[in-house]
Amino acid sequence: MNYIDLRSDTVTKPSNEMRKAIYEAEVGDDVFQEDPSVNSLQKYAAELLGKEAALFVSSGVMGNQICLNVLTNPRDEVICEKDCHIFNYESGSPAALSGIQLLPLDGKNGVLTPEQIEPYIRPESAYYMPTTKVIEVENTHNRAGGTIHPIENIKALNALARKHNLYMHLDGARIWNASVATDIPVNEYAAYFDTVSCCLSKGLGAPVGSIIAGDKHFIDEAFKVRKAWGGGMRQVGLLAAAGLYALKNNIARLAEDHEKAKMLAEAIDRIPGLEIDLERVQTNIIIFKPLNTPVETALQKCKEKGLLISMGNVGFLRAVTHLDVSFEEAKKAVNILEEIFG
Ligand SMILES: Cc1ncc(COP(=O)(O)O)c(C=O)c1O
Repeated sequence: MNYIDLRSDTVTKPSNEMRKAIYEAEVGDDVFQEDPSVNSLQKYAAELLGKEAALFVSSGVMGNQICLNVLTNPRDEVICEKDCHIFNYESGSPAALSGIQLLPLDGKNGVLTPEQIEPYIRPESAYYMPTTKVIEVENTHNRAGGTIHPIENIKALNALARKHNLYMHLDGARIWNASVATDIPVNEYAAYFDTVSCCLSKGLGAPVGSIIAGDKHFIDEAFKVRKAWGGGMRQVGLLAAAGLYALKNNIARLAEDHEKAKMLAEAIDRIPGLEIDLERVQTNIIIFKPLNTPVETALQKCKEKGLLISMGNVGFLRAVTHLDVSFEEAKKAVNILEEIFG
């Protein structure tokens, strides 16, 4: 069966033009920092993000974890929102890889305010407590439904971090979506963070890879950590070429994915057997709830009719629009949902 695959924006496959860029990529040994395609990607990404330097890493998880590792020492603590990716979906790595703990706090739509965070910053005199070191922000916020972190709140978090001598880390796996939806350039978002991690392999459609960025000293340290964790790759310019193609060609078109998501969400809102909070559909992720059908059954019924969606938070379904699903297919997805839940 030809499925309409809305499980995630990670299921995209390289387009013919991207494959051509991969085919034509100049390569060298990136462990010697001699791969021209990797070097071009890193330079381009650093400029785009307004940071001194950038590093190509294999995944979003690797990007986040290298950043946290460089920013912290064992026994430090990172404050984050409780539904965030680093707390829920990174296999307990902060403890395993860096000897640090996370302090997840209850936010709204993935957002924590400075007023919520400040009481949890550990006093310096409390030698028996972990040391608060980093405030982590996820933008857009995956589990909250692709929600955008308001820039005013980011500024306020940055002021709080400076006041208490803390670092700011951005899990910007989908920062491109936030930027396109708000018209706020990615370098403006990035300016409030010491370190950022951004995915090339989600809405941007590259097959592999993420970028981390920060100041030169940070990237020098990150380069060592990436090597130590087995992430030094050799003629990886083949993949970097895809990433560079994605950054140059696939950012502005994310607006189409947001339109498809809006269309789907509004249709879902009209289907009696489904419930959705339209306010949370701000980019390309749609979280919704089947009212009279268990989630597993709902997934199965959709699959039987040719529609793949995934599980969201407990009791919720999740659909994600991306460049490999056309408007036409998104409309077909609506028809399937109407047949099942109408
Ligand atoms: C917000 C967020 N951060 C990080 C990641 C991790 O990316 P990867 O799957 O490339 O490790 C994801 C993946 O879905 C994500 O949604």
